[in-house]
Amino acid sequence: MTEVRILSTGVYLPEKRLTNADLEKMVDTTDKWIVERTGILERRIAAEEDATSDLATRAGKSALERAGLEPGALDLIVLATISPDMLCPATACFVQRNLGAANAAAFDISAACSGFVYALSMGANAIRAGQAKHVLVIGAETMSRFTDWEDRNTCVLFGDGAGAAILAPSDEPSLLFESLGADGTLADLIETPGGGSRNPASPETLEKRLHYIRLKGREVFKSAVKVLESCVRKSAERLGVAIRDIDLIIPHQANVRIIEAAAQRLDVPMEKMYLNVQRYGNTSGATAAIALHEAIEENRVHPGDLIMMITFGSGFTYATSVIRWLGNGV
Ligand code: ACO
Repeated sequence: MTEVRILSTGVYLPEKRLTNADLEKMVDTTDKWIVERTGILERRIAAEEDATSDLATRAGKSALERAGLEPGALDLIVLATISPDMLCPATACFVQRNLGAANAAAFDISAACSGFVYALSMGANAIRAGQAKHVLVIGAETMSRFTDWEDRNTCVLFGDGAGAAILAPSDEPSLLFESLGADGTLADLIETPGGGSRNPASPETLEKRLHYIRLKGREVFKSAVKVLESCVRKSAERLGVAIRDIDLIIPHQANVRIIEAAAQRLDVPMEKMYLNVQRYGNTSGATAAIALHEAIEENRVHPGDLIMMITFGSGFTYATSVIRWLGNGV
């Protein structure tokens, strides 16, 4: 089986920042509540003229440039999003067009906050199976378009952004394994109920605000802590290493308290848990991609390091990727 590595990463983060002080003027909330309950200080909001594919294209372009690769070299584009440009066609097809990646197949993955790791796994498997050589994997979201700005339970949590990675065959093992899971019995914990075949768009769905994301925060919180803990334990066991031998854990960035609670249960110091939720909020499918890119840029990972990305989200989905970091580049 062909080994796979990450050649490069890239991100696009919209310029517009929405701070907690801004939110205080919009809904009945306070900076203190948001910081204490979530750790979030601000989030990015996409420009009015941009859709998810525009953010994704910029992140993808940046990753291609860093890899020194022409768009024509791509065989596959896998894009994770729950805020697509449209229900059809796939947002990945707009990105393929925008990049001029004429030789690439393109499709979307809907796995919410686990989306990037699901996409990474699909992309890596295409290379492992000999079906593709260069794969562009993207997580991109414009959550702000699906956020109810009158609902304080959700509007303080989400942000917009995109992250990308280029995958290629490798002489040495690097993407060691991915582990994906879902528990559909918890599907109603986080949902955007309107606009699909269950509740087709109508004046009634608009009136009931069914086109916005809803979540049962407290229940998600509990499931998230459990999943984070068990994914780290299971992956360490599969690798045959102690948890202390993992150099960096990149958990899904939904809430600092979820990450702190999992770190405590695992007896892992917070220095080993990557955090950027304070700057971007929860960017759903883009989160892991942005966090991986920033961890590399901030020199938090070094060649030879063992990295674990662990994500969870609507579905209820969860996914882990274990990487032996080889460094950027070909
Ligand atoms: N400002 C002030 N008060 C608020 C706000 C707000 N923005 N939001 C809720 N409250 C109130 C509630 O109304 C409630 O008041 P009540 O006690 O009078 O009813 C009180 O604060 C406490 O509410 P809880 O929901 O219990 O607060 P909690 O500590 O659980 O924090 C939060 C809520 C931040 C949503 C947390 O539960 C959480 O992070 N959940 C997980 C979210 C997550 O992981 N999402 C990932 C998946 S998302 C996806 O897949 C797209």
